[in-house]
Amino acid sequence: MATVALVSRPASVLPKISSSCSPAVLSAASVATVQQRKLHHAVIPKGKGGRSSSSGIAATVFGATGFLGRYVVNRLGRIGSQIVIPHRCDQYDLMYMRPMGDLGQILFMEWDARNTDSIKRALEHSNVVINLVGREWETRNYRFEDVFVSIPQQIAKAAREAGITKFVHMSHLNADIRSPSKYLRNKAVGEAAVRDEFPDAIIMKPSELFGREDRYFNHYANMRWFGRVVPLMSMGKKTVKQPVYVVDVAKAIINAVRDPDANGKTYALVGPNRYLLYDLVEYIYAIAHRPFVPYPLPRPLYHLVASFFAMSPFEPWTTPDKVERLHLTDMKYPGLPGLEDLGITPSTVEQKAIEILRRHRKFRFLDADLDDTKPAKTVNY
Ligand SMILES: NC(=O)c1ccc[n+]([C@@H]2O[C@H](COP(=O)([O-])OP(=O)(O)OC[C@H]3O[C@@H](n4cnc5c(N)ncnc54)[C@H](OP(=O)(O)O)[C@@H]3O)[C@@H](O)[C@H]2O)c1
Repeated sequence: MATVALVSRPASVLPKISSSCSPAVLSAASVATVQQRKLHHAVIPKGKGGRSSSSGIAATVFGATGFLGRYVVNRLGRIGSQIVIPHRCDQYDLMYMRPMGDLGQILFMEWDARNTDSIKRALEHSNVVINLVGREWETRNYRFEDVFVSIPQQIAKAAREAGITKFVHMSHLNADIRSPSKYLRNKAVGEAAVRDEFPDAIIMKPSELFGREDRYFNHYANMRWFGRVVPLMSMGKKTVKQPVYVVDVAKAIINAVRDPDANGKTYALVGPNRYLLYDLVEYIYAIAHRPFVPYPLPRPLYHLVASFFAMSPFEPWTTPDKVERLHLTDMKYPGLPGLEDLGITPSTVEQKAIEILRRHRKFRFLDADLDDTKPAKTVNY
């Protein structure tokens, strides 16, 4: 599949191509529509499928330095892919990614999201493009419109013009033009803009992700710093959440890249269970062995408190938009394919929460048994 994808891109986009490819691939190339390209040996599938083999995937992962990014890069690396990581941070801050791929298979390059040439340069040697760019809060330089609409649109345009056939875009389960959250409104506009620009794009709509470095379970667990009470609108009894495990989403992206039928589809990626927000947070505190003291904070007051945090010039702990997003009930999309359609059995919160929450325990509870903790109540509405 990857071979065909590569062959179908114009010759000009792979200037550093060697002539040392197998006769089988060359004959496959000769029957493809666009035949002028030779293949770089690094993207011809070979080996047994491990880190030192070649999956045939040469992927550019925009936003690889984020929470989900490291899982996607690791998953790509372990099947033997070449990965281009456009970044804007210091190279030394990315060193943790180096061992995720075989020697020379992970390539770092600086990019500027406002510079279309740098986007084009980042994807010119790839046959797969994955867009994970996102931000939970707005900055003076980048508003949600930039991060969720203009940048994805520019990437989609550059990918289409380069002849790339696999483009994965991350949206959000609750993306909706009528949402009270600006983040989610822009996600909806971005989704439509990407579809217009790249009709075959694979759009992923995950619910909130939980995982070791998340800003979800850790966010709730950290609330104990602020007076030991957990503020929840309506005590979290009017919000239903269906969180999904970050590794499942990373696997879904890789499986979609490898599935020739995934092009043009939109996937709704959710965990197996739905919980009332109250029950979910209570469970988080039970696993962390911390007292759970919920406090019903009215929306205007919660927004006021959050807007003080939002003034932080660094990463704000919360914002009014995040408050809104975390209190929205997760939408249901029975018509859209999900994790199971990509061959993944979703992990439950009960299976994985301890990975995230053990570090929130007091020393004497570090090894406390999980069997003592009652699983969170689930709902089906
Ligand atoms: N986390 C969730 O619960 C969740 C749920 C649903 C959907 N999503 C979506 O999934 C995607 C990945 O999420 P995530 O949690 O991994 O996000 P994240 O941790 O915030 O990482 C976002 C990535 O985007 C990059 N980025 C942000 N603004 C940029 C800009 N102006 N120019 C260049 N790069 C920029 C960041 O680069 P720097 O490191 O340089 O800042 C980082 O690599 C996002 O689109 C997000 O909206 C996430």
